[in-house]
Amino acid sequence: MGKLIGPKKIKTAIFISGKGSNLKNIIKFSKNKNSPITVDLIISNTPKAKGLRFANQFGIRKKIFNFKNLKESEKKILSLLKNRNIKFIALAGFMKILSKNFIKNFKGKIINIHPSLLPKYKGLNTHHKAIKNKDKFAGCTVHYVTAKLDSGKKILQKKIKITSKDNAISLAKKVLKEEHKLYPAAIMKIFS
Ligand code: GRF
Repeated sequence: MGKLIGPKKIKTAIFISGKGSNLKNIIKFSKNKNSPITVDLIISNTPKAKGLRFANQFGIRKKIFNFKNLKESEKKILSLLKNRNIKFIALAGFMKILSKNFIKNFKGKIINIHPSLLPKYKGLNTHHKAIKNKDKFAGCTVHYVTAKLDSGKKILQKKIKITSKDNAISLAKKVLKEEHKLYPAAIMKIFS
């Protein structure tokens, strides 16, 4: 008898610009039997992204688009995604802002993780802001991507305490640890 094959997993692209710890974490999660997704492609806007090494490590295709010409890069990405039958995009530390047109092509199929308790602290330097403002709590949010930066519908959010010993670096570490739990949980939630 032939091998039984379970329901097909959703082909996913992960977009990165940096270290890629969330990328690595999502790849590992995707290998679980229960994961609804499979990571088919890694896209970066720079060859310097350290996370690109996970493409080699896990045998996943990678592509770099420099985004110098946003329209051109997005056009090429869209055709690549289409050719590979990719149906879902997870941004993980991706530092470019995607155009309205790109997002329209993947409406409701692009998600992002942001290291703050959105709607608080959209954009950069979230941990510095939280420490500077003497906030009592910080956290991370997984949300749908819309044309407005860090403003799409929330999928999951995790709140953690900021202690008097915390600085922006220690806080970033603590939040990142939570990100690694939250991102897979959010993906499970979307497809359950
Ligand atoms: C994370 O803190 C993520 O929330 C933010 O950028 C960072 C990326 O970290 N958008 P990594 O590249 O996944 O390690």
